[in-house]
Amino acid sequence: MTQDLRGILLSGGAGTRLHPVTISMSKQLMPVYDKPMVYYPLTTLMLAGIRDILVITTPRDQQAYRSLLGDGSQWGVSLVYAVQQEPRGIAEAFLIGRSFIGHRPVALILGDNIFYAQGFSEKLQQVARPAQGATVFGYWVRDPERYGVASFDADGHVTKIVEKPERPDSHYAITGLYFYDGDVVGITEELQPSGRGELEITDVNRAYLERGDLRVELLGRGTAWLDTGTHDSLLDAANFVRVIEKRQGLKIACPEEIAFRMRFIDEQQLERLADACGASGYADYLRAVLREPVPVSE
Ligand code: TTP
Repeated sequence: MTQDLRGILLSGGAGTRLHPVTISMSKQLMPVYDKPMVYYPLTTLMLAGIRDILVITTPRDQQAYRSLLGDGSQWGVSLVYAVQQEPRGIAEAFLIGRSFIGHRPVALILGDNIFYAQGFSEKLQQVARPAQGATVFGYWVRDPERYGVASFDADGHVTKIVEKPERPDSHYAITGLYFYDGDVVGITEELQPSGRGELEITDVNRAYLERGDLRVELLGRGTAWLDTGTHDSLLDAANFVRVIEKRQGLKIACPEEIAFRMRFIDEQQLERLADACGASGYADYLRAVLREPVPVSE
């Protein structure tokens, strides 16, 4: 199933809240401590077992993404590219990716979403399996009014999803990681842009909810779902990554390591990647991974 599942990494947007730093550079290429932001969502897709990925960028930034990520073969994945002319909504990714998706199931992740949690890869691989319906993730936040918000009945079933409600019914925000079956392109083609002129991902989720085909997996409080959209939240995310990496001596979202642990590349390939990094701490880290492989789930 996961072989069939395709991935979309949506990395367009204007990044206006980060001006002036994003005036000439894509937000998702900015560093989050020791690596570009886009490595985090990219490796989330890889941990779900996804190897065919479409990277959507603004027209201006596509070349920068190509130089950074290439065709993915160095990490045992296939990366292809498309542009979003204007930020006309998250759901537009399914129209831009129409022929890439075909009738296959697809996972969409936003280029500025960082997840970190115990057992998250296992959860991703479970979610990647079902062939029917949609799965999204709910995460308790202090300020749900900034997001799509899910409401639940007494049995914990989702009853409603509302985009940026003034008075949210719950604290559960829907995160920027979504899994859909092969109907998602058809569903998106039926959507009308919202009042703010965007094809809303919340409308896609609502369509699945109306069919009785939407699952909302709750992420527990031991999960970090980090915001990177403002100067403060970007610095906080970098500090979070730094604290964990310093304490453990293990990297969060290192694509070379994850490709190796997922068996997308073998020891020789990882060694070549380490050699290509020259005399850097990053190269030393990759060599340490080769010496002491730890399973993905630990
Ligand atoms: P937003 O946070 O809504 O927008 P943004 O990142 O451009 O930032 P700002 O609000 O400061 O202008 O977008 C969330 C993510 O989704 C981000 O990674 C950009 C991406 N996105 C697109 O690629 N295309 C779109 O049409 C939209 C709405 C978002």
